[in-house]
Amino acid sequence: MPHPVTDLLLQRNSSAKLTHPAPGSTLLNTLFQGAFRAPDHGLLKPWRYLVIEGDGLDRLGELFLTSALKATPDLPQAQQDKFRKMPTRAPMIIVAIASIQEQVKIPEVEQVMSASVGVGYLLLSLQAEGYGGMWRTGPLAYNVDVQKGLGLTHHEQIIGFLYVGTPEGKAKAIPQHDINTYVKKWP
Ligand SMILES: Cc1cc2nc3c(=O)[nH]c(=O)nc-3n(C[C@H](O)[C@H](O)[C@H](O)COP(=O)(O)O)c2cc1C
Repeated sequence: MPHPVTDLLLQRNSSAKLTHPAPGSTLLNTLFQGAFRAPDHGLLKPWRYLVIEGDGLDRLGELFLTSALKATPDLPQAQQDKFRKMPTRAPMIIVAIASIQEQVKIPEVEQVMSASVGVGYLLLSLQAEGYGGMWRTGPLAYNVDVQKGLGLTHHEQIIGFLYVGTPEGKAKAIPQHDINTYVKKWP
């Protein structure tokens, strides 16, 4: 029998359909403490998070729309509606930000990796606590106006919009992988 933590890893599943409730602030704080345990070269803590709920999700939808329109002024109406409604697909969005420290020897890629591991931990612990999530990016994560609107500075990047809530509907099947395709002994 695998250890419960190993079993959780084997069962990890993103949830595209998420509904209320999202985790409360006490639990969320614990989950963030877990994310802050990501391996971190130089102990730089190269991450920060924004938690968005309620009206904030509508505000984020407006930011998505205005930013997308600035990049593509003739955006079709259907696409405009899609961008505006995007954040309301879950009761909570956690914006995961890599905050790159520039005056250090640790390369940027390692800082982004460290912040990304934290997002993975968040996904896992959300599932362990009976919630679900889906890590999303898309062009809006790399849109300068979205970044500005969320208050990012020049040394920061959005590494994900983590959609968070309670999974709705049947969980999708966990794919099985052939170990030998991905793992070899060397030499
Ligand atoms: C950095 C990153 C960005 C992603 N962006 C998207 C996205 O914008 N849209 C999407 O449908 N899936 C995106 N995914 C993939 C999903 O989060 C998810 O991993 C995928 O649907 C497979 O499901 P699973 O995690 O349950 O295996 C992204 C994953 C990562 C790591």
